[in-house]
Amino acid sequence: MFELSEEHEALRAAVRELATDKIAPRAADIDRTAEFPWDVHDALVKADFHALHVPEQYGGAGGDALASVLVIEEVARACATSSLIPAVNKLGSMPLLLGASEGVKQKYLAPLARGEAMFSYALSEPEAGSDAGGGMRTRAVRDGDTYVLNGVKRWITNAGVSKLYTVMAVTDPDKGPNGITAFVVEDGDPGFTYGAPEHKLGIKGSPTRELYFDNTVIPADRIIGAEGEGFKIALRTLDHTRVTIAAQALGIAQGALDYAIGYVKERRQFGKAIADFQGIQFMLADMAMQLEGARQLTYAAAAKSERAMNGEKVADLTYISSACKCLASDVAMKVTTDAVQLLGGYGYVNDYPVERMMRDAKITQIYEGTNQIQRMVIARQLLKD
Ligand code: CAA
Repeated sequence: MFELSEEHEALRAAVRELATDKIAPRAADIDRTAEFPWDVHDALVKADFHALHVPEQYGGAGGDALASVLVIEEVARACATSSLIPAVNKLGSMPLLLGASEGVKQKYLAPLARGEAMFSYALSEPEAGSDAGGGMRTRAVRDGDTYVLNGVKRWITNAGVSKLYTVMAVTDPDKGPNGITAFVVEDGDPGFTYGAPEHKLGIKGSPTRELYFDNTVIPADRIIGAEGEGFKIALRTLDHTRVTIAAQALGIAQGALDYAIGYVKERRQFGKAIADFQGIQFMLADMAMQLEGARQLTYAAAAKSERAMNGEKVADLTYISSACKCLASDVAMKVTTDAVQLLGGYGYVNDYPVERMMRDAKITQIYEGTNQIQRMVIARQLLKD
């Protein structure tokens, strides 16, 4: 794949139009108020861009992995917070696509596709960040036709605005990561409450909260896959969705580069546009070529993700999804920091968008696995027999 299909190009153009008209004008305000953008959510639902990965048999648009990447990239170019709507909907529901029974898929993917329920993913805990499997404490104990959940999940993106949650919990403490099981938990389940929203550096309009389970009883048929399969389902999910974090990083970086290019052509110093100085040109060239390299890797990873979803064995999916997430997020941090530099003092104040983009870029190096974990995953893949 060295060129996007006509359909993918048309999709990109359609998302860019929506993002330019409805999302970009809202981005500064979303950042300032730190309020979830329901208007943007509704616009994405109306256009069917909120969860276009959901297959048609569950009422979704049936978009492929590259289509999801393009949507997230183009929305993030305007507003990183808003791009978490399609990204987290994919993250939360991917465990179902990979491991759930037909009944669970029918029941929960349809409301997601209709735009009635967003879907979050709950793996991390206070003591289980990078060591997601070994540190997990949340318990799920079988009791007749139910499971009873107790514990705390932390750093849950879109908590409180999502209605559905994929929750990983320990069902057999003697088996380590192989004693973890995944479940669907619904907003409103008994004993299920949320912590206060975190005050964050960026992605401010997307709430990040803890989930509390206090003797939360759920029907046993909410299980995703079988007991003990939860951690592998969680990691297989990340193999697909780290590609979408890469897409988010690309979008943020492209937004910053585009703004910086416009600025240096307008800004005059020493009697000419600063774009005429070679030092500025070299910075722009580095930003653009690093971004394009990360983009090509991300699109190739998306193509592999799609092939794996279609049942093909893709031996290097774990490697390439970690690689594109790590590269694209490091590039986004560098490009957005350089964009601030190109705007000088104007880059440092919130009358201009690039300081927001720099703050938003930072999270892409942290969530869905820190870039240290990505490098560890990549090295393990290189060194395995
Ligand atoms: N797919 C399927 N199975 C996998 C796998 C993969 N990609 N990677 C490992 N496994 C299997 C292993 O083969 C092993 O199985 P066996 O016991 O049967 O051999 C089992 O899973 C445990 O694997 P490891 O021994 O490698 O586990 P580990 O604990 O040493 O390391 C890790 C795992 C790579 C460090 C993993 O814990 C990890 O990725 N940590 C980072 C966590 C993370 O990304 N958190 C993000 C939270 S989500 C988030 O941020 C969302 C948000 O809100 C936006």
